[in-house]
Amino acid sequence: MLKGKKIILGISGGIAAYKAAILIRLFKKAGAEVKVVVTSNALEFITRVTLESLSENKVYDKVFGEQNDYTTEHVALTDWGDAFVVAPATANIIGKLASGIADDALSTSLLAFNKKVFIAPAMNCKMWEHFAVQKNVDHLTANGIHIIEPTEGFLACGYEGRGRMEEPERIFNAVKESFHSKQSTLKGKNVLITAGPTREAIDPVRYIGNHSSGKMGYALAEELADRGARVHLVSGPVNLTVVHKNIALTKVTSADEMLEACKKHFDDCDAAIMAAAVADYRPDAFATKKIKKGGSAKDLKLHLVPTPDILAHLGKQKENRVLVGFALETDNETDNAIKKLTSKNLDFIVLNSLSEQGAGFGHNTNKITIINNKQEVSRYHLKDKREVAADIADTLEKYLNR
Ligand code: C5P
Repeated sequence: MLKGKKIILGISGGIAAYKAAILIRLFKKAGAEVKVVVTSNALEFITRVTLESLSENKVYDKVFGEQNDYTTEHVALTDWGDAFVVAPATANIIGKLASGIADDALSTSLLAFNKKVFIAPAMNCKMWEHFAVQKNVDHLTANGIHIIEPTEGFLACGYEGRGRMEEPERIFNAVKESFHSKQSTLKGKNVLITAGPTREAIDPVRYIGNHSSGKMGYALAEELADRGARVHLVSGPVNLTVVHKNIALTKVTSADEMLEACKKHFDDCDAAIMAAAVADYRPDAFATKKIKKGGSAKDLKLHLVPTPDILAHLGKQKENRVLVGFALETDNETDNAIKKLTSKNLDFIVLNSLSEQGAGFGHNTNKITIINNKQEVSRYHLKDKREVAADIADTLEKYLNR
């Protein structure tokens, strides 16, 4: 899959830079070509000789320099690469990329690169958790940059927590997987996907909602679109953007609107994947004016009525379409997921648990179990949501190609 692919490896100044050497070896062994761009700090942690020997190419560390063939080398380099991997990525390089700053060879090359970018952060846990870093990571994710989440463990600074760079093998696999998805195995298929939360209005100001970020549904849409499927994505309110020639996006707010959008596109689809966290209840009446506090009654009681169950509705008209649901459970996970699978007439259900570290709402990673209608159970380990999307897509392909 990686044979002949051209990988630009960016290394910034963190202790995990030594692991970049292993990453180069993995890419080279898989038949890829590697060119390395470093920050000047990175060269404090790993030598130019090591990187040049392993990559069999010169290392770039200056925008202007004698080593460069000509001064727009960063553009020539980025035209050359098929994928750009930054490992380790410090808070500094993440911040620069998120804000469009180009003041050295690595940040300049990153800004000149418009193909797939993988960022493997590595830093102290307090830095990783800092709102500024988290905001930058969210901004990058929302713009299609692939974040390979750091893991928990012993950090070089003596702390224990999240901030260790993901292992080189896992970074390598994420990059490899992204090339796999380029094959048009789903060409000619139409897939309907729902994503994100719904909001059920109480009055013009307030609503009932949930913590769904939409990341899983959007990752799925991109994965299937990369495999050649035409995707219709029906999304609740999220902070994500999607730009893909195979994805048509309909934005909705409430469960009722989501149902209407799904009904419109269900007839034409070969498969439907409901990844949205649809609110189960909505206020029975919408107050046209903002509800004031301090009225005659002390307490405010909301009377809630059920929203339409979109998936159950589609399940009744399924015919030979493949129907996939999601289940987020906090207890009796497998039993509850199987109940949903049966009652909603699904082909398979993707179960994710809130009790797993790094899984569920808002995270860039997820840990899933897939249960099919023969009640066969496949468990997967914690992965980046894009890799999880690839696992789900692999399962879907089996059903679509039956
Ligand atoms: O809410 P519940 O756990 O039943 O969700 C299971 C599945 O049903 C999910 O795939 C979700 O997107 C879908 N669902 C739906 N409409 C609802 C509630 C859930 O499509 N009103």
